[in-house]
Amino acid sequence: MIHAEGIVLHRLHVDGKMNERRGEIIRELKRSDLVPVRALIHRTIDACYGRVYPPRAIQFFKDYHSEEKILGRSRRGVLLVVERDGNLIATGGLAGGEISGVFVDPEFQRGGIGATLMRALEGKAAEKGLAGVELDVSLTSRGFYERLGYEILEERSIDVGEGQRLDYWRARKRLKESSGGTVYQ
Ligand SMILES: CC(C)(COP(=O)(O)OP(=O)(O)OC[C@H]1O[C@@H](n2cnc3c(N)ncnc32)[C@H](O)[C@@H]1OP(=O)(O)O)[C@@H](O)C(=O)NCCC(=O)NCCS
Repeated sequence: MIHAEGIVLHRLHVDGKMNERRGEIIRELKRSDLVPVRALIHRTIDACYGRVYPPRAIQFFKDYHSEEKILGRSRRGVLLVVERDGNLIATGGLAGGEISGVFVDPEFQRGGIGATLMRALEGKAAEKGLAGVELDVSLTSRGFYERLGYEILEERSIDVGEGQRLDYWRARKRLKESSGGTVYQ
């Protein structure tokens, strides 16, 4: 079923954790989403990163996800949002072969939304004929990306000042070629 503004998520999801009754849709960012998307990302950063990253790294993440930067990334590629009952509960983007800004509202984590969003982004990459995608993996999300078939390439770290560091990993996933065209794992 195609929703007026997007695709009903259960059509994209393979393991049946999401369904039409919840009224969840996935669609591209609209200009009016900027404030709620920024708020979603920032509250998820506070809730999920506070215990693992130092304060200056938290601020670095928030600056990286300002309204201006979110808008810039949406213009360079595609930025998807997941909407439930009129509220934005998840987001993620693809620009070139880079997936970034994948965040699921803490209240809705571990319900299959992140995996569905990733499959939608990988689908967009496959449509563009990309051979693979790469992304940065936060300290809290390694298990999630490995579960989705991402291969950790290396550890990286940013000096965020005052002796504090932002540690993460670089990862990639190859998108499979098949006789029917490019597909994703
Ligand atoms: C990481 C994140 C996007 C995952 O979204 P989610 O909706 O909770 O993930 P899902 O429910 O779709 O999980 C998919 C699979 O990954 C597993 N998984 C999810 N988070 C995990 C974690 N932190 N560690 C290990 N496994 C994890 C789930 O158990 C599930 O496995 P299953 O298919 O065997 O049941 C979400 O927790 C989040 O927004 N975290 C904070 C921000 C963040 O780290 N974003 C990534 C930026 S690099």
